[in-house]
Amino acid sequence: MNDILIQNIGELILPKKTDRPLKGNELDELNIIKNGTVVVKDSKIVYAGEYDDSFEATEVIDATNQVVSPGLVDAHTHLVFGGSREHEMALKQQGVSYLDILKQGGGILSTVESTRNATEEELYNKSKKEVIRMIQFGTTTVEAKSGYGLDKETELKQLNVQHQLAQDTPIRMKHTFLGPHAVPKDAKDNASFLQEMIDLLDDVKDKADFADIFCETGVFTIDESRRYMQAAKEKGLKVKIHADEIDPLGGLGLAIEEGAISADHLVASSEKDKKALNSSNTVAVLLPGTTFYLGKDQYADARGMLDNNGAIAIATDFNPGSCVTDNLQLVMSIAALKLKLTPNEIWNAVTVNAAKAIDVEAGTIEVGDQADVVVWDIPNHEYLPYHYGVNHAQTVIINGKKVYQ
Ligand code: NIG
Ligand code: FE
Repeated sequence: MNDILIQNIGELILPKKTDRPLKGNELDELNIIKNGTVVVKDSKIVYAGEYDDSFEATEVIDATNQVVSPGLVDAHTHLVFGGSREHEMALKQQGVSYLDILKQGGGILSTVESTRNATEEELYNKSKKEVIRMIQFGTTTVEAKSGYGLDKETELKQLNVQHQLAQDTPIRMKHTFLGPHAVPKDAKDNASFLQEMIDLLDDVKDKADFADIFCETGVFTIDESRRYMQAAKEKGLKVKIHADEIDPLGGLGLAIEEGAISADHLVASSEKDKKALNSSNTVAVLLPGTTFYLGKDQYADARGMLDNNGAIAIATDFNPGSCVTDNLQLVMSIAALKLKLTPNEIWNAVTVNAAKAIDVEAGTIEVGDQADVVVWDIPNHEYLPYHYGVNHAQTVIINGKKVYQ
């Protein structure tokens, strides 16, 4: 007897399993089966394909007129933080820029203060609510970054909370150390603070899969970012970078040179750097929800990156300042409207390619895969980005268990 049988599936979305991210035109290819069947047993997929009535299971889900896809992978979030920053909304309305708020000691630095002041238990309880919400929205794997401590004690506190959440909740999690996320007010200078964060790599390397840095005007330069990435790689960590979010410093080019697993944001990346994606497997993780929330008109050039045969993924960037949503479905709609991506490209960008950006086996439904599956109450796969701002997830299965309905 199998555990779960999903039958009569209106559209079964089967992204292609590959050993590298999908690039360029490949992103628009998506295998969609009408009237499909999925069978789950002991946490694994045992069948996924054309309609087949030969299976029996303890639980049968009838997905007539519905869509079934792999669980969504959110490849970029700042999950654990203290406090909130709703007062910045008024500043934004008055035209104060994101970097100016940071320069005045607000923004990331105000969240640093709240996170330092919060106990591990407070952070745990607050972030657990977000994780539950993510699952309800269909996210089954999430990447979570530290970066609101900027000191050893608080960075470790954040990473410990992440690991506790990964243990206590069904979501699958990857962990990123983002010590160089901002420069604290009391730091002597940027270079000496960066060195402190490099020295911290030894303390965090067993709790993190990746090391990340915010390469931006007034934060860390290209040279500083290179120094950090090289030091992190020496400690055995894969590297990521917040690159070209606001100013075109060349972070994408650096990421490609350093073999980063992903380069994230890339709103202001140069033509030269975008061309370099052609010969690279670094995933461009685009965060259009952030551009929307910062009230900017210029979005990342997703189409140009695909024309250059680049690999792209889409993520929320959930954080308390520049994108306060954990709903990846909403960001899929923004990707359609503002990045001009097709529905096929969007589904691949939040499943297989997002999984590649965080080095996790996820984003596909094939025999032997861990069963992370979502049943969507929508008539076809194009419908999700179209009907925006609501939750279309009807049933969420992680590791073979129904965790939301
Ligand atoms: O990815 N830009 C840097 N880091 C985050 C924002 C963090 C914050 O504002 O608290 C981002 O947008
Ligand atoms: Fe971010």
